[in-house]
Amino acid sequence: MKPYVFIDRSVPTEVEAFLAEHCTVDKWEESSPIPRRTLLTKVAQAEGLLTAGAQVDTELIANAPKLRAVSSISVGYNHFDLEAMKRHSIIGTHTPHVLDDTVADLAFALILGTARRVAELDRYVKEGKWKSGMGNKWFGQDVHHAKLGIIGMGRIGEAVARRGRFGFDMEVSYFNRSRKPEAEANLGVHYSALNELLAESDFVVMLAPLTLETTKLIGREQFKLMKPNAIFINISRGQTVDEAALIEALQAGTIAAAGLDVFEQEPIPDDHPFLNMNNVLTLPHIGSATESTRTNMAMLAARNLVNALTGQSPTHTVAELQ
Ligand code: DGY
Repeated sequence: MKPYVFIDRSVPTEVEAFLAEHCTVDKWEESSPIPRRTLLTKVAQAEGLLTAGAQVDTELIANAPKLRAVSSISVGYNHFDLEAMKRHSIIGTHTPHVLDDTVADLAFALILGTARRVAELDRYVKEGKWKSGMGNKWFGQDVHHAKLGIIGMGRIGEAVARRGRFGFDMEVSYFNRSRKPEAEANLGVHYSALNELLAESDFVVMLAPLTLETTKLIGREQFKLMKPNAIFINISRGQTVDEAALIEALQAGTIAAAGLDVFEQEPIPDDHPFLNMNNVLTLPHIGSATESTRTNMAMLAARNLVNALTGQSPTHTVAELQ
């Protein structure tokens, strides 16, 4: 008998067709996110779950007695309670590699967008304010030859470093749990202690995955170390930064600007201070959101799920059978 899987969001037709070849598929049909209560009901029979951000925690697991595998269409898997999944022998998988270049491109969209004040100036033009030459009040900062500091040197970090080093002639340093001698040699980047990186960089890019150790890794003390012209970019997870401290640093001019694709709470609340700050460029968590990359991610996640459910050696596991 084919394993029963639930898909909690819409996925490309070819991905659904692939899953249907190997599994009995049920799916959430609406374009709005599935309400948690509905998800908890839907997983009651599910042996497999294809998701992108559903919290796979003790509550969900208690409602899903047959669950054997959860495949996330994301590289981040901080929504998995790995301990609980392991206790219940639920395999967890994610989608690394296929999104590296796309997310790195977005890092540069935020770097260039903040440095050259693209969103602010777009508003200025469209609001009919462009009536004469631009005064220096609107000038931005150079990206080329500036110092780029990368926190979290995984595959995406390396893709950002490559763009910085070879595309924009930047001096690139990185901070990571472990040194990356190969990246240092191939990309001409150097390792820095975190405080040193913060003190020296014109652009600080947060890419560390969200873990207990990286929760609020950047807070008041860290912003104080940064240069007044520094621009802080976050494309990891909002919780890696103390948001209150970031707001304070931006308002006080401790740092110059921020480019953010991720937030402590997503979607961002309507009354969030960032929404009224011209020196903050905000995006709705679209790091990997291009047509082709999201299709590749969904297909990879579907393959991971089928492999896990059909006893083939599961690929890209983050929670493994004991
Ligand atoms: C991921 O895959 O974890 C990214 O945050 C998606 O943009």
